[in-house]
Amino acid sequence: MSSPINVEDFRELAQRRLPRRLFDYIDGGAEDERGLRRNRDAFDRFTFLPRRLVDVSTRDTATKLMGRSVAAPLAIAPTGLNGLIWPHGDIALARAAQRAGIPFIMSTASNVSLERLAAEAGGDLWFQLYVLHRELADDLVERAARAGYRTLVVTVDVMLNGKRERDMRNGFALPLRYTPRVVLDAVRHPRWTYALLRTGGVPSLENIESGSKSNVQAKAALLRRQMDASFAWEDLRRLRDRWPHRLVVKGILRADDAARCIELGADGVVLSNHGARQLDDAVAPLDILTSVKNACAGRGAIMMDSGVRRGSDVVKAVALGADAVLLGRATLYGLAAAGETGALHVIDIVKDEIDRTLAMLGCRATADLSPGHLLAVGARMAHHGAPRSAPMAPNADSDAIFDAPQR
Ligand code: FNR
Repeated sequence: MSSPINVEDFRELAQRRLPRRLFDYIDGGAEDERGLRRNRDAFDRFTFLPRRLVDVSTRDTATKLMGRSVAAPLAIAPTGLNGLIWPHGDIALARAAQRAGIPFIMSTASNVSLERLAAEAGGDLWFQLYVLHRELADDLVERAARAGYRTLVVTVDVMLNGKRERDMRNGFALPLRYTPRVVLDAVRHPRWTYALLRTGGVPSLENIESGSKSNVQAKAALLRRQMDASFAWEDLRRLRDRWPHRLVVKGILRADDAARCIELGADGVVLSNHGARQLDDAVAPLDILTSVKNACAGRGAIMMDSGVRRGSDVVKAVALGADAVLLGRATLYGLAAAGETGALHVIDIVKDEIDRTLAMLGCRATADLSPGHLLAVGARMAHHGAPRSAPMAPNADSDAIFDAPQR
């Protein structure tokens, strides 16, 4: 391939470089993978209504997210096992984010410790918490505060692991066992294998030291993504009380839950179906943005992820009320293809696409975006040429007001 020019090109490069089972681990979804398609369809259902004759000769993608400046309404989503994709992949992603001027969210299941990341990669670092069990969670939260993290993202959509059938068929389970298939897969992908061997082999889950018996159990649970399934609202309240800085709840898929998080003192929510890796038929986050926006009434940051592959996707999400969008697989494909450089290249592509889309919509900044820039495919136009109400995705919200059919 000549130089990659979009996220899909990076996906192809990632597929070439990574052993099949690792690529499938990143790329795959739960069960029949309808959710992967639904996440994309949600974006495809919206078209743009550009405004003309606006001076867009100067533009800026920068915005504010929970009171802090970001170069674009973007952040890198937390993903586990980044060190398998690229040596010290967490640090590579964090540096790419720093260079791009956007936050990086480090996963509990990272392959470098949160302390090391804070020391080696600057920028706006956020820590994502999986609650495996409460004591370990309390310990991680204290460590994160001590290491200088100021935003905690608690993920609430993994009470157990999604049924990821690619992983099951491929026998992708950790710790990796060196079966003949694994070895053959590695031999067929020498660049990846060489990089892994040169940097000490399969990396471990560095946030959870293996010393104590409970940590050994926690590690095993994290590898199986077997969380504390009893974690509920009271526990979130307790976490809110313990963590003195910004708190974000990730994995929310209902307006009432989003509002409850904010009322409980969260600074923001991430609407997410975990990139269609958990509940296959979960709603696409884009389809609930408007109702969440209405329910939260400007009282907290609304972020979303799942299926974002283009700058125009980001623009659609922001137009519908998102303050920022998280990139999951998009930056992972970049990381797999070329480490920090690849991840940065992906962010730059997405930023450039945001900028182009803004210009062609007649917007100088993301703050100029509104639902009036969008038309849901199938919605009718009012006579004066603008949609009569905020356009909604079909089936999105029961309170959606669609244009009345014209006679
Ligand atoms: C994830 N995701 C995730 N989320 C989280 O809170 N903690 C984690 O450790 C992980 N790990 C993880 C690994 C891999 C390989 C993927 C692809 C995803 C979910 C992630 O944060 C995000 O919600 C989705 O990736 C967003 O969907 P897209 O952008 O990948 O379609």
